[in-house]
Amino acid sequence: MLISISSVLDADQLGLVTGLLPEVVWKDGAETAGRVARQVKNNQQADLGQSIGPKIEQILFSQISQNPVLRAAAQPGKFSSLLLSKTQSGGGYGLHVDNAFMGTGDAALRTDLSFTLFLSSPEDYEGGELVIEHAGQTQALKLQAGDLVLYPSSSLHEVATVTSGARVVCVGWIESRVRRADDRETLFDLINLKADLATRFDDQSPELLTLSKTIANLKRRF
Ligand code: NI
Repeated sequence: MLISISSVLDADQLGLVTGLLPEVVWKDGAETAGRVARQVKNNQQADLGQSIGPKIEQILFSQISQNPVLRAAAQPGKFSSLLLSKTQSGGGYGLHVDNAFMGTGDAALRTDLSFTLFLSSPEDYEGGELVIEHAGQTQALKLQAGDLVLYPSSSLHEVATVTSGARVVCVGWIESRVRRADDRETLFDLINLKADLATRFDDQSPELLTLSKTIANLKRRF
């Protein structure tokens, strides 16, 4: 499943984060890439562990991790730490697949889902689309600032070359409590159905109680 979620950051939160960006310390992105990805990676990254980073991460993480659509679609068990990525004119990140395992110790996770939260407006740069090969199709995404795309970490993807301006995004990974993508989709459909039915049925109606039971029991099984 590949979904775009709008306004994960509202205008105030986006203003706060972009206002702090000039204080971020950037490093060459190739330093953190694997052997193969390094050959195609041309960007700058900030790991948010230092200087102004934790303040930015706090705002981003609370909005991303508590977003109800993301939670319904991803069934998150663990989140990676967040990265900021800046791609300037001439930069990009060629076709690659994300590492299956990231982090060590308590921070170790299997990457089931990847997400990109756009911090730059599409007007701020030319090129720089996130291109994802998913379900036999190729999708090129360039979302509004504050919007997020969630996609399977198993897919090949790239960041098209930025031809002018600068593209700044926040990226991260999720280990889901539900390992299989088809099972996550089933749950997502049922959770959406429940939200829809909740506008027409009472919380204690047999319909909603049965659906809640089914969702809970499927979560246990998955
Ligand atoms: Ni990637």
